[in-house]
Amino acid sequence: MHTVSIDTRFLGELKDSADASLERSVKALEAIQSGECQGSEWLGWYDYPRRHGFDVVRTISSYKESIDFHYDLVVVIGIGGSYAGTKAVDDAIAHKYQGWIDKASAQIPIVYAGHNLSESELVELIDLMDAKQPLVNVISKSGTTTEPSVAFRVIRRYLEQRFGVEQSARRIVATTDKDRGVLRSLAEEQGYKTFPIPADIGGRFSVLSCVGLIPLALAGYDIKLLLEGADAVFESIRSADNLSQEPVVQYAAARIAAFESGKAVEVLAIPEPRLIGVLEWWKQLFGESEGKDGKGLVPTGLVFTTDLHSLGQMVQDGVRNLFETVITCKNATKTGGASVERSIKVPHLSGNCDQLNYLEGRSISEINMAAIKASQLAHFDGGVPGVELNIATVDLHTLGALFAFFEVSCAIGGVLLKVNPFDQPGVEEYKKNLFGLMGKPGYEELGGSIRSRL
Ligand code: PA5
Repeated sequence: MHTVSIDTRFLGELKDSADASLERSVKALEAIQSGECQGSEWLGWYDYPRRHGFDVVRTISSYKESIDFHYDLVVVIGIGGSYAGTKAVDDAIAHKYQGWIDKASAQIPIVYAGHNLSESELVELIDLMDAKQPLVNVISKSGTTTEPSVAFRVIRRYLEQRFGVEQSARRIVATTDKDRGVLRSLAEEQGYKTFPIPADIGGRFSVLSCVGLIPLALAGYDIKLLLEGADAVFESIRSADNLSQEPVVQYAAARIAAFESGKAVEVLAIPEPRLIGVLEWWKQLFGESEGKDGKGLVPTGLVFTTDLHSLGQMVQDGVRNLFETVITCKNATKTGGASVERSIKVPHLSGNCDQLNYLEGRSISEINMAAIKASQLAHFDGGVPGVELNIATVDLHTLGALFAFFEVSCAIGGVLLKVNPFDQPGVEEYKKNLFGLMGKPGYEELGGSIRSRL
């Protein structure tokens, strides 16, 4: 039984080409397993839970136990792969209103900085930190990314003014490259606790390494469950008699068939707003991994049922270049984190003046699932083929499985597209322009030519 299973019933026009792509998708997976693909020096994420992850969990747990000061807020400073996975998990599991109501919670709130250049967000975050006892995890593999570096400089100054240099150093954990980068040297100079990001794991594939695991553990999550969920996906691949039956392979085959038949956009439809973080993580994973050399499906999303009243029209009836992947969840009731498992059913109303008694006794989740099915069929009939990915529930185990599932299928996608899925050369272009515009030493000439054009 797969934690993430696939239903290919709605592939329609793509069915034959998806079936025909199974064999090369299997070959692509085998190339990844044997390290014979482009970017093979970045394959450290593959099978990571079993090879290192569970040991890393023990190291993180001992660090957590050694913390001898009170904290009630975890501040994650990072951008891209350095924060998206953490946010995906926390958004999915934490009680949405835990900061607003006095709800007893196993989780400490996680907030984010350095994932944009919004001054107003930073001002509000400092207001929040003022009311709390923050613990800061600054995360940057390169240690040189502008957004988190700027945010960290500001937050560090704030902490030092409030707690003093020595005490603030104890409230900072740096997750960065083992040997390189200014964050590494700064952390060593200031005596921060540090954790090394494995050299062979790139940002967007790093959620199940210390990048994602540390902030989640500090916030109180049982990170071992995430790794167990991911490991189940790798184990299923390891023990498969026929790899073409593996959902990861079937998803990759369907996606490449969609791309090669001229589809330009993949819409990931998520059943619940609490999976928006997963959607954002997925967009980054596929966008940065596949969007190269004029190739790749543009990853975008549909949040049920909110977006049926906005983007839904476009999916149903707009330009016909879409492929839709729908995540369905049998039991979307919260089962983890701060929330108690409970169901809300439509109550009886005498007189039926709102004409909703036909829904009496049905849970909101049941109605939501019917809306998902109704729109899936309507979109298919409107010319949007796709696949369905089924999960039983949204918990740490399932989230870990989803991460591994998408990482493996994305890597297969990169191999099939003949691009290196693990680099992101396109991102460098804006960085260079920004350095030039802001006068970074060494970028003076570029800065001059950019200014003359703007
Ligand atoms: O996937 C990637 O490698 C990127 O999205 C990075 O995670 C992002 O650019 C942040 O980089 P860094 O961790 O070096 O600050």
